[in-house]
Amino acid sequence: MSYGLLKGKRGIISGALDSNSIAWKVAQRAKEEGAIFTLTNAPLAMRMGEINKLAEECEAKIIPADATSVEDLEKLYAGSMEHLGGKVDFVLHSIGMSTNIRKNRPYDDLNYEWFMKSLDVSALSFHKMLQVADKMNAINDCGSVVALSYIAAQRSFPDYTDMAQAKAMLESIARSYGAVYGKKNGTRVNTVSQSPTKTSAGTGISGFNAFYEYANEMSPLGNATADECADYVITLFSDLTKKVTMQNLFHDGGFSCVGISEGIVNRMG
Ligand code: NAI
Repeated sequence: MSYGLLKGKRGIISGALDSNSIAWKVAQRAKEEGAIFTLTNAPLAMRMGEINKLAEECEAKIIPADATSVEDLEKLYAGSMEHLGGKVDFVLHSIGMSTNIRKNRPYDDLNYEWFMKSLDVSALSFHKMLQVADKMNAINDCGSVVALSYIAAQRSFPDYTDMAQAKAMLESIARSYGAVYGKKNGTRVNTVSQSPTKTSAGTGISGFNAFYEYANEMSPLGNATADECADYVITLFSDLTKKVTMQNLFHDGGFSCVGISEGIVNRMG
């Protein structure tokens, strides 16, 4: 169902890799709600070609950009403003990658070059996206920038390894840049801490099924799906949340507030 929440708004959506991606669902919902936007992803991800289907469906231009490259991001904002006919109102950062996770390196045997890469791709890129936009004056007054996070920023989870630090940094950047951007032109900056979700990045973590089932069992509302995450992100892009900024917002069916669920008590008691 469409509410026209993003009618007249322009945006940039990163991170749509395939139809499971959270960003893919956000793009579909943004289109439904009346927005026009560009899609972006790392040049490497373009090779899969899936994003072309989404671009066609959403009538969106694709502008490849490695989110760790300031130069690429400058071209992304310049190209988006030119194509969309003005500054943007919303930006989605939906980017994460850890070579340590991909190669199954345990937390007590991390490769530090890969660790730095995880931080650069998964967290610092958020600062770069914000700073480049800020310097280019690319975001309209009262714009909205959202990045996706995970509760491993606050609590330990086996096998999430260096991504836990990346998410902690990501959430910290939202607070620090939110303070700066809010003062400048009312742009809000938030992170959404999402339930485990069956995407390419999610299922790449060993033990993901246990994360997923455990969170589902612990959460009174069950795990939030990628579609539900997209709904929530749309509200944050809309004018209905103009005073929400510098927050890490849990979108997790209640998981973050539960100590133990009744089901687990009954099973273990
Ligand atoms: P996904 O694998 O579909 O998306 C990750 C995206 O990051 C891909 O499109 C990939 O091409 C992009 N990317 C990687 N390196 C890049 C670079 N250098 N420049 C630009 N883009 C790059 O998986 P998903 O789950 O949709 O991930 C999106 C975000 O949601 C990530 O930040 C992830 O950590 C976060 N998240 C995912 C959860 C899950 O369980 N799937 C739970 C909570 C948060």
